[in-house]
Amino acid sequence: MPSARVVVLASGTGTNLLALLEASGAFDATGETTRRFGGAVVAVGTDRPGAPALDHARRAGAETFAVPVGDYPDRDAWTVALRDAVAAHRPDLVVCAGFMRILGPAFVRAFAGRILNTHPSLLPAFPGAHAARDAIAHGVKLTGVTLHFVDEGLDSGPIVDQRPVPVEAGDTEGVLQDRIKEVEHRMLCENVGRLLREGWTVEGRHVVVGG
Ligand code: GRF
Repeated sequence: MPSARVVVLASGTGTNLLALLEASGAFDATGETTRRFGGAVVAVGTDRPGAPALDHARRAGAETFAVPVGDYPDRDAWTVALRDAVAAHRPDLVVCAGFMRILGPAFVRAFAGRILNTHPSLLPAFPGAHAARDAIAHGVKLTGVTLHFVDEGLDSGPIVDQRPVPVEAGDTEGVLQDRIKEVEHRMLCENVGRLLREGWTVEGRHVVVGG
């Protein structure tokens, strides 16, 4: 069976993208790592043309594309443009790895059940763009990371995996975010590989891997 095709969307530094590129063999010219992983990152898209994440993609030889919101008259037009740009790469799986935009219905429906998002909290606690900051402000002692399929809500789709991360006294947002990312990179790579190799179905709120 040909290797699965993954398209990653990222807006920022791209450390999750880099972890996924490494795990999926983007830097192994023999192709052996990609074969064992079950698929490859074929393209990386962004809403921010200057995002450092794109540098990782280029180094890995993946195709890149940028669809900035400001280039379109409204959100719906942007959503359709992003959908078409992603569809051009024929993805089996779309991974939002620090993609800081909400995906509209036209996008979510086009790739229904095939869009993953990694979020830096134990959802449903602390959805939104400032999860680490919100966890510190709330005084929780434990936060974490969630990998979930994207639905039309905000960080609300069916959960694939969750892993805990402690909040230490005196943590700043940056310190906590870095602690979360260490766990997040592992969780993302392990799950994406497993999903690609074993397949999955989504039944209501439940993700069933393999079978
Ligand atoms: C990740 O923690 C992700 O969960 C959040 O933004 C961060 C992106 O980090 N949405 P990076 O760009 O992968 O380094």
